[in-house]
Amino acid sequence: MRTDIVHIGAGELTYEIRNIVNVGMKLQKLGRTTNWENIGDPIMKGEEIPLWMKEIVSDAVMQNSTYGYCPTKGVLSTREYIAAETNKRGGAQIDAEDILFFNGLGDAISKIFGFLKRTARVLVPTPSYTTHSSAEAAHAGDKPLTYILDPNHHWYPDLDDLEKSIKYNPAVAGILIINPDNPTGAVYPTHILKSIVELARRYDLFIVCDEVYHHIVYNGTSTSPLSDVIGDVPAIAMRGISKEMPWPGSRCGWIEVYNGDKDPMFAKYIQSILNAKMVEVCSTTLPQTVYPQVVQHPKYKEYLEERISRYEKFSNIAYDCLKDLKGVLVNRPNGAFYMSVCFEDGALTHDQILPIDNNEVREMVESLVSPEGTNVDKRFVYYLLGASGVCVVPLSSFATDLQGFRVTLLERDEDIFRKVFETIAVSIKKYLES
Ligand SMILES: Cc1ncc(COP(=O)(O)O)c(C=O)c1O
Repeated sequence: MRTDIVHIGAGELTYEIRNIVNVGMKLQKLGRTTNWENIGDPIMKGEEIPLWMKEIVSDAVMQNSTYGYCPTKGVLSTREYIAAETNKRGGAQIDAEDILFFNGLGDAISKIFGFLKRTARVLVPTPSYTTHSSAEAAHAGDKPLTYILDPNHHWYPDLDDLEKSIKYNPAVAGILIINPDNPTGAVYPTHILKSIVELARRYDLFIVCDEVYHHIVYNGTSTSPLSDVIGDVPAIAMRGISKEMPWPGSRCGWIEVYNGDKDPMFAKYIQSILNAKMVEVCSTTLPQTVYPQVVQHPKYKEYLEERISRYEKFSNIAYDCLKDLKGVLVNRPNGAFYMSVCFEDGALTHDQILPIDNNEVREMVESLVSPEGTNVDKRFVYYLLGASGVCVVPLSSFATDLQGFRVTLLERDEDIFRKVFETIAVSIKKYLES
């Protein structure tokens, strides 16, 4: 090429959650059976969509209007419904104009960071859901700026570290919160959210709060939506139907803008995101059309509760399998459907292995872990995959120096789930002793 065509942030775009699938598929071809515990897609793990929900969707499919474009911000009646639900809580008050639909939150995330001035930074948690940290880093053409989620304290944000990161990085304009969190499964108590909002107010920042798992909270924990605690700080809350309904294939999520008129610069920034969507025309019409009907259906609450109680039960099975193992730090997940396990400092080396019977599989794993600089947790994850077929994601791929892995709680069969976690426990022990 006569001129460099590669974006300055191109190197920041990685998504190990899906990369590892390529490796798993190759191993499957070589005869290795695989338990996919890497992707947060309930449908892929066999979630049955109830008939009443399918009927709502199929009725909508019979209406011509669902085949058309919808307004750029989204279907008006749905935005009115969402705004009324938010306002009922008595916190931030919004109307339909403060809501903007996207083709999934993935689309929202890339626009929110993509239309932020290159030199303005948003602090992201470490570890961090990669779509956020990669998009933020790519927009700046630099490594993500992070604040610590503390594995020694329920994976809660380290507020001192957060304040230091704000204070010593004048480029910081915003803070990202993911609550409940992916990849840790942490649920933040309301007082922590209030403290973060207070920091934003003090340092004149805006907040982005990803609440895609907002209703998936268990083990007796509770939290608040950002709208309850935001006061007069400019903010964006992100919601969607991928995890809750669950309908990830619909590509449907939205943002709610709080205090959009309180700061002229923030207002201009929000307008630029809206303009970007306008250039694109609009987001998917069908899922927006059915959303209010689905969540108001008399059986919706019961359906969601059944799933949540399963995640609660399975979070405890997973925790009990791993909590007493030497060399790892484990927190019981209390929300979403992920668990992050981290190895103690120095527990992993470049020499550890798990025995793999199949020669071809072993050779493949060896070739994958041989390059200089392969993270030690990636090495563990590949050996686990090769030796047992359990596919998890290295924690180091979630914008953190911590070494460990993220595993999902989505397997529906309790016997298989137990077996997977027993296998992980035995493998960790064997690996660390090898
Ligand atoms: C925290 C978080 N936000 C956003 C998303 C993406 O959601 P969507 O399917 O709406 O793009 C995910 C998907 O795993 C997620 O975990």
